[in-house]
Amino acid sequence: MSVNLDKMLERCEREQWRVADFDWTATPVPLSPEREREICAYYVNMSYIERLAGALFLALAKRVDDPTLAAIFETFHADELRHSHAAARLADHFDVHHYQVYTPNIPMLRFIPAFVDLIDSVGPAYATNFILGGELILDIALLRGLNAYVDDPLSRAVIEKINQDESRHIAMDMHMTEYFAAAGRGGDANPWLDRNWWGVLTWGPGFFAEVFFRPMQRFDPSQAQMRDVMRRIRRFYDRAGVAANPAVREFQGLVALLETWAGALLGGAVAELSRRLFGIDFDFVRAGSTVSVYGPGEAAPAVLSPGNVGS
Ligand SMILES: [Fe+2]
Ligand SMILES: [Fe+2]
Repeated sequence: MSVNLDKMLERCEREQWRVADFDWTATPVPLSPEREREICAYYVNMSYIERLAGALFLALAKRVDDPTLAAIFETFHADELRHSHAAARLADHFDVHHYQVYTPNIPMLRFIPAFVDLIDSVGPAYATNFILGGELILDIALLRGLNAYVDDPLSRAVIEKINQDESRHIAMDMHMTEYFAAAGRGGDANPWLDRNWWGVLTWGPGFFAEVFFRPMQRFDPSQAQMRDVMRRIRRFYDRAGVAANPAVREFQGLVALLETWAGALLGGAVAELSRRLFGIDFDFVRAGSTVSVYGPGEAAPAVLSPGNVGS
């Protein structure tokens, strides 16, 4: 999965596009009042999530020594700001009847600065892995789910361009995970001891519940997209090339704990409580278990070739 950085930078610059490239005068698909309200609200939140992603890449650009890497991450910052503008524009595109003023989710607004500060202060191996997870679930799964849910020609065309950018982001997120694994680097400043973690813990549950889990349950009731995300993360983290990354080692420790009988019992109890108290179903997490990914009676392979990681 090694990335040629010069070619990647050239691709990043070549594949830039503009929000103005689309015809924003198009009429959106007809929506019921309830659906118009919810789609506008989702896109307003999405425009902030894209800003969060941009801030994370800018923080990374400032922290890396390699000038090509820094230049790549600066283009990612520009990509995410463009995604933010596109999401805000899509909110306006669907706001045909102006039923209300759409404002961003409050826990999300509190979560964003805490998370950006956390990314700034933790070891870069942890920072890049938080970014990888955030991109897979918020920047990609949520946006794709929302796009499929609304099923509008302009939205589809815009999200197709955004997804093109996201494929570069994910390739680099994975490259950085390997980069920090190569010499076991980047593991200083463990996030669990960072004071910003408390801000993330305080605002994260409300943010993820309202902006991610509940909408995803509407967009993708079968949880097919979330199961796919779980499988991708597990297969990637099981590769030998990332095993020495300190963030991956912590992930593997957590998986091992959850796959003991006591861990499974505890995980099952927490999932059941979440379903009953908050109506949020975490069943998709099982898709990342050893038995789901590799089949019954099999252990995770010590080495996965890149071809097995899936995309
Ligand atoms: Fe994005
Ligand atoms: Fe992204």
